[in-house]
Amino acid sequence: MSLLLRTSLPRSFLPLTHRSLTRPFSTTPFRPNTEEKQHPTTPLKDLFSLRDRVILISGGGRGVGLTQASACLEAGARVHALDLLPPPSSSSEFSSIASSFPRGQLSYHHVDVRDQPKLNEIVSSIAEQEGRIDGLIAAAGIQQETSALEYTREDADKMLGVNVTGVFMTAQAVAREMVKRKQQKGSLVLIGSMSGTVANRGLICPAYNASKAAVLQLARNLAAEWGEHGIRVNSLSPGYIVTAMTDGLFEAFPERRTAWPDANMLKRLSYPEEYRGAAVFLLSDASSFMTGADLRIDGGHCAW
Ligand SMILES: NC(=O)c1ccc[n+]([C@@H]2O[C@H](COP(=O)([O-])OP(=O)(O)OC[C@H]3O[C@@H](n4cnc5c(N)ncnc54)[C@H](O)[C@@H]3O)[C@@H](O)[C@H]2O)c1
Repeated sequence: MSLLLRTSLPRSFLPLTHRSLTRPFSTTPFRPNTEEKQHPTTPLKDLFSLRDRVILISGGGRGVGLTQASACLEAGARVHALDLLPPPSSSSEFSSIASSFPRGQLSYHHVDVRDQPKLNEIVSSIAEQEGRIDGLIAAAGIQQETSALEYTREDADKMLGVNVTGVFMTAQAVAREMVKRKQQKGSLVLIGSMSGTVANRGLICPAYNASKAAVLQLARNLAAEWGEHGIRVNSLSPGYIVTAMTDGLFEAFPERRTAWPDANMLKRLSYPEEYRGAAVFLLSDASSFMTGADLRIDGGHCAW
């Protein structure tokens, strides 16, 4: 009787054990030896190493994503940048970084993260070529400053399409490859923002801030689902960073150059390079027991 009742319920109401029977990607769950100490004698420099790891970075064509690509390369990884920008010219910052590492260590893939078939195709061809994927930084994102009374549905859909669904589908494509290959290990870093935690004083971007709150919650939920496969998922929430994204705002509103630094405890803006250590920490074994967490680095902005 109870079975009959259960199966007539909508799928989302079914208990997890029941639903998991129908999951196409369900494989043998990760069963760590709970008695086994993790990295008991690994030297610290090796814990932070990304040597020979394969890392994907969406939004890796410029800004924070490109700086994090450079950090991962320095830590020994092979990096695949996925971005909407046209393929980088030989005089671009991307090419200059690529040329300072061995050939093939940094590659560029042109894709819009909203184009799921192409995204899946690129991610699986990288996994095929490399034999594995070890990590992801999902940094592709857009920003728009428009008051809530004037926001159009199209613009709100676009914001959520890139910043939430785009991040979700990128993480899904990568996690599917990790699960399919039974890697039992992987780390995904979703770039959120301090704006996922607070409403910025004097910066009117309701959909962006809602999208970043969604990224933080998405990270917790993906961590909860994928922990059984040994996949860790965390978000990284920066404060104000000087990049192309904020440069435009400073040109339009010069007073923000002083107002924004004044809003945090260190009284300054940050630079993409200040998030390199966090990216390497989250992707490496140095953070092996960290999942479902948000690492907020905001000069104390949200701690007042
Ligand atoms: N700059 C800041 O102050 C700040 C603060 C907190 C969080 N962030 C977040 O950091 C991340 C990087 O931001 P940034 O400041 O380097 O901005 P940016 O605009 O310099 O870089 C964003 C990158 O994402 C790419 N991108 C945008 N839409 C895409 C799509 N649909 N498909 C594929 N790629 C796409 C862009 O081409 C660009 O290369 C974003 O998620 C942003 O929200 C930025």
